[in-house]
Amino acid sequence: MARRKYVVGNWKMNGLTGALAEAQAIFAAAADHPGVDVAICPPFTLIGPMVAAAPGGAVGGQDCHSAASGAFTGAVAAPMLADIGARVVIVGHSERREGCGESDADVRAKAEAGLAAGLAVILCVGEPRAVRESGGAIEFVLSQIAGSVPDDFDPLRLAIAYEPIWAIGTGLVPTVADVAAMHGAIRGALAARFGDAAEEMRILYGGSVNGDNAAELLGARDVDGALVGGASLTAAKFVPIVAAAA
Ligand code: G3P
Repeated sequence: MARRKYVVGNWKMNGLTGALAEAQAIFAAAADHPGVDVAICPPFTLIGPMVAAAPGGAVGGQDCHSAASGAFTGAVAAPMLADIGARVVIVGHSERREGCGESDADVRAKAEAGLAAGLAVILCVGEPRAVRESGGAIEFVLSQIAGSVPDDFDPLRLAIAYEPIWAIGTGLVPTVADVAAMHGAIRGALAARFGDAAEEMRILYGGSVNGDNAAELLGARDVDGALVGGASLTAAKFVPIVAAAA
C-alpha cells in the first residue's frame, strides 16, 4: 500500500520567538507539496506561539510525561500539548533515552499517553556506535521496538523513527542498504506482532539528513520519511528535504 511521506523537524532546544518566521516559511512552502505530511516539533515554549503563527501547520512536542497530570515539577503532560494545539509528540529520542535515563517501559508509557491524548506519536529507536560496529544493530533496535511500542494503536497515528545515535548531528549517515535493511527488519517485527497494520505504519529515518542526501535516503525501501534535527531549523535547509520527499 502507498504510505504518505512524513517529514518532521525536531528543533530540540533551539529557537526563540524570532524563529517563528522560519516555521511560517516552512509551512507555507510545504503547502506546495500536498502529498507530504510535514510537522515541526519546537521547544515547549514555542508550541503555542507556533500554532498561532502558522494555523493549519502540524506542530508537536519533543517529549511528554506518561501521566496526565500530577506532582511532576517541570514536566509537561500529553493532554497539555493537545490543549495548546499540538498534534504530534516525539517519544523515546536517544537524547532522552541516554541523557535522561528513559527505559523502553518509560517510552512505551509516554507513547500510550500521547495516543490517549489524541496525538500522533513518533517513537524513536536507534543503536549506539559500538553496537553498530559489533554487528548487533538490528537485534538492539528490535529489542527497543519490542519493549517500547504499545499493544494497541491506530497504525496511522504511530510512526517509528530509526535514528542511529552515531549519525545524529555528526554528518555520518549509514549506507542506504543498511538503512533499508534496518527499516525492513523493523517492518518485519511490526508485522509479526500487528499483522497487516504494519504495512500502514510509517518508519522514518533520522540522523544527519540534509537537502543533499534526502532523496537517496527517502527513496530506500521501507523509508517513509525523515526526522530532521539541524537541517530543520531554517526554511532554506528544511524545504529541500520536504521537496525530496514529494
Ligand atoms: O530527531 C532528529 C535528530 O536526532 C537528528 O538530528 O541534526 O542529525 O538531523 P540531525
